[in-house]
Order: sequence, then structure tokens, then C-alpha cells
Amino acid sequence: MRFDVLTLFPGMFRGYLGESLLQKAIEAKLVDVRLHDYRQWTDDKHHRVDDRPFGGGPGMVIKVQPVVDCFEQVEREADEPGELILLTPQGRTLDQPLVERLARQPRLTLLCGRYEGFDERVTEILRPTEISIGDYILNGGEVAAMVLIDAVIRLIPGVLGDEQSSRDDSFSTESRWLEFPQYTRPREYRGHEVPDVLLSGDHPAIARWREEQSRQRTQQRRADLLSRPAENQQDGPSTDGLHHPQKNNPS
Ligand SMILES: C[S@@+](CC[C@H](N)C(=O)[O-])C[C@H]1O[C@@H](n2cnc3c(N)ncnc32)[C@H](O)[C@@H]1O
Repeated sequence: MRFDVLTLFPGMFRGYLGESLLQKAIEAKLVDVRLHDYRQWTDDKHHRVDDRPFGGGPGMVIKVQPVVDCFEQVEREADEPGELILLTPQGRTLDQPLVERLARQPRLTLLCGRYEGFDERVTEILRPTEISIGDYILNGGEVAAMVLIDAVIRLIPGVLGDEQSSRDDSFSTESRWLEFPQYTRPREYRGHEVPDVLLSGDHPAIARWREEQSRQRTQQRRADLLSRPAENQQDGPSTDGLHHPQKNNPS
């Protein structure tokens, strides 16, 4: 099985790839992991891959262009198509049935985020499967990608000494509000435009838009969060773009 991992920090994987079960699986040619750095694909003359969010707010957003270009080049060079996965706390929670489905694919491509995440147009254009490893915020998608790879390779025949041990596993989850979509420059990319309200400078209107987006996303993706007992819920999504008390601070 082949994994292509797209990241800003390929060096984070080297220790993991060189140890234990994964190292043995790679040596046995049961698993092939290839690392790709978005930074090599940026068309920015200063090699920047992130920028400030349109509409204001803390942190930086990964630009759409280096991610789309890097992914498209990897696909052009691959022998067979694979499933594209974007690691995000807003995705479907990784669980064992999902791991089992992924383990049946011949190839998986993993997009690792950083900072405040990706420009929303990465998702609009590439239509990845969005996967979270749990309801908490990591500093980046690299550890999540390692979790996913680690879970999947256990199910590849020949990787474990005892195939029975992978049939005895279990899991658990938490909950929180989901964030609104983020955009950064350029304003238009391949016909996908940033919502006008984020360019308006009207911060109350931006806050209302973000709150509505957050509520819609939470309703659509994690309606179970809305029906939990009040003491377990956040007060609501942070939408002013300036103050995020419920978040770990900028990554
Ligand atoms: C600090 S997080 C961004 C979180 C984003 N601002 C939000 O609230 O949805 C930076 C990156 O870490 C990765 N990440 C963080 N938590 C994750 C999780 N629970 N599962 C998968 N990836 C995660 C994602 O790739 C994400 O783009």
C-alpha cells in the first residue's frame, strides 16, 4: 500500500518511518510512504505558503495554490489513483470501520494542515475526504497522518505478526463547536471566490456570517454536539475574528 503525505514538515515523519512495525513493513515492501513539501510548490517569490485570513482574526492560513499544485503533481506521477484525505478537526472522526475501509485502498494521499488550517478552496477544489482523529486541536496534521497510517497498516496482511491482535481494538471521542470557513489571498482562484462579506471590512457583518457558518457546519456535520447537556457545550462559536478563548492558542 502506498501513502503520499503532503506537509510543511516532512522531517517530522523520519523518526516514525524508521522505527518499529512501519520500518519493517517498508523493508518488506508491504508499505511505501512518500513525503512531499508544499513549500517546494509555492509560486510566491519569498516561498511563503501561508498568509493572514481575509476578514481578520488571529493566526495564518495555508494558501490554496501550493497545496493544489503539489497534489496535482503527485497525482500525475502516481501509477494508480488514490483516495485523497485532508486531516482536519472538522472531518469525520476516524474510527475502526473507517480504518478498515481505508485499508482496502491501494493508495492514500494525506494533506497535513498547520496554523489555522487550509484556505477553504483547497476543499472546494480537491474534494478530499475530511478526517479528524478526535475532538481536540493538534498543532498540525502530521501527527494525525501518523495516527491514520499507524491504524491502517495494522490491517495490511503481513504487517502484524498475529493478525488476531488487530481484531481486538477499541476507541473513544469528545465534542466542541466547529470553526467557520477561512480564506486568504488570492481573492479568486480557478473561479472560486472569497465570500464578499469577508472583504467588506464590516466586522459585525463578518461576525454574523461566521456565526451562521459555524452553526450550519455544526448542525450539518456534528448535530450531536447541539443536543448534548448544557454543561458539556461551548458557549457558542467564536465569531469576532479577534478573540478565541476556547481555542489553544495560535499554532
Ligand atoms: C491548529 S489546527 C487548525 C484548527 C482550525 N483552526 C479549526 O479550528 O478547525 C492546524 C492543523 O492541524 C491539524 N489538526 C489539528 N487537530 C486535528 C485533529 N483533531 N485531527 C486531524 N487533524 C488535526 C489539521 O491539519 C489542521 O489544519
